Amino acid sequence: MSDQEKSRTSPARFEDYFAVFRDIIRSIYSSTNLQEVLNVVVNKTAEALEARGALLRILNLETNQFDVGAACGMAEHYIDKGPVPPEQLVQDPSELHRVKIITDIWHAPRVEYPQHAWDQGIRMMLDVPMAIENEMRGLIRVYLSEPRSFSEDELDFMVTVAEQCACIIERVRLAENQEAHITHLATQMEKMSSLGRMAAGVAHEINNPLAGILLFSSNMKKKVEPGSSLEKGLEIIIRETQRCKTIIQGLLEFARDKPPRKKMTTINRVISTALGVVGNEFYLRHVTLEQHLAGKMPSTLLDENQIEQVLINLLLNALQAVQDYGRVSITSRVDPDGKRIEVEVADNGCGISAENVKKIFEPFYTTRSDGTGLGLAVSYGIIKNHQGEIRVFSKLGEGTRFVIDFPIVSAASEGKEEA
Ligand SMILES: Nc1ncnc2c1ncn2[C@@H]1O[C@H](COP(=O)(O)OP(=O)(O)O)[C@@H](O)[C@H]1O
Ligand SMILES: [Mg+2]
Repeated sequence: MSDQEKSRTSPARFEDYFAVFRDIIRSIYSSTNLQEVLNVVVNKTAEALEARGALLRILNLETNQFDVGAACGMAEHYIDKGPVPPEQLVQDPSELHRVKIITDIWHAPRVEYPQHAWDQGIRMMLDVPMAIENEMRGLIRVYLSEPRSFSEDELDFMVTVAEQCACIIERVRLAENQEAHITHLATQMEKMSSLGRMAAGVAHEINNPLAGILLFSSNMKKKVEPGSSLEKGLEIIIRETQRCKTIIQGLLEFARDKPPRKKMTTINRVISTALGVVGNEFYLRHVTLEQHLAGKMPSTLLDENQIEQVLINLLLNALQAVQDYGRVSITSRVDPDGKRIEVEVADNGCGISAENVKKIFEPFYTTRSDGTGLGLAVSYGIIKNHQGEIRVFSKLGEGTRFVIDFPIVSAASEGKEEA
């Protein structure tokens, strides 16, 4: 047999492979649950190779060891293994994209418990690496009950599928992390809401005396000699009192527990109103404001005032983050299945460090000398009230993207009349 003939795989066999590959991709593409994805990958791989069982190890990003992520077809005690260090799985970068065939399980250094395997009827193993670029992210070990030969095509195919799976696993892992982050924020916000109610009470009390201070100091300023030290002192009192009022106003806004007053409208309309409010500030700072609004935008139930407030917050934050002549864009889109709306505010400003990104939704977190740190905390609450989500993607020195998405809700489905 020539080499070429040896490395060819029969079309029927390939059709089976493709069918399994399609199944894997189909079932894991839409999943957001990591464990579910790992189970499908391991089961389908064993099925495709008519193997006795398979075990998937996945890189634990915290310990840098490969933990068992999922397994099938093998006795519990065999798969119930601890983590292994990367050195044990890859000795050489050339192994990252090649299947390792283990025919002599008694003498292969990477087989830890040959006796166990032998007792389970295992006579051959394949180690299929799951690498993304040049980094090993996981490994599928396939256990076969009799030695078999594999063509180069088959081995290449296994690596390709495994690499695709690695990418999807990475995506799901990211999504899960983000979800954990959001859940953490939600708990944080629950705690803050009781504190907020308390603060609102205090804010109310302080608001009136502040108005009095402002009124009397402004009147006094009119009566003192222009340029005198007394006038300067009064100016400071007025300025600082005004600052207190802004903070109190923000605090009252934050603690406001009003249910949204929703009506049927389109997000594009709300975006236009918000742009009308902030447009001039962008113009004065020579910051380009790009709009990419979806041409066909369905109506949905929204509290126009509240959503406008969120958009103004995001746009002003973006404006504050960019230099003069910077660039900010606002985009609206409907997701392909027509169930959700997405609005994105992106800038090419200073960006936020990974450390600080965790804090930006916390009330009073601000890095600006004149900030209140309430804009995003209020926005978070409003979006939550619309059953939506707000996410942030940022890179220090490159820019920030805030993405809000909410479900399209009709007046009927909320049991309300269109206002
Ligand atoms: N687009 C952005 N680019 C960079 N940093 C941002 C952006 N948006 C928000 N931030 C950070 O989040 C902090 C909190 O924002 P916010 O809650 O609106 O309060 P404030 O604007 O009063 O500071 C800001 O002080 C800033 O550090
Ligand atoms: Mg702000």
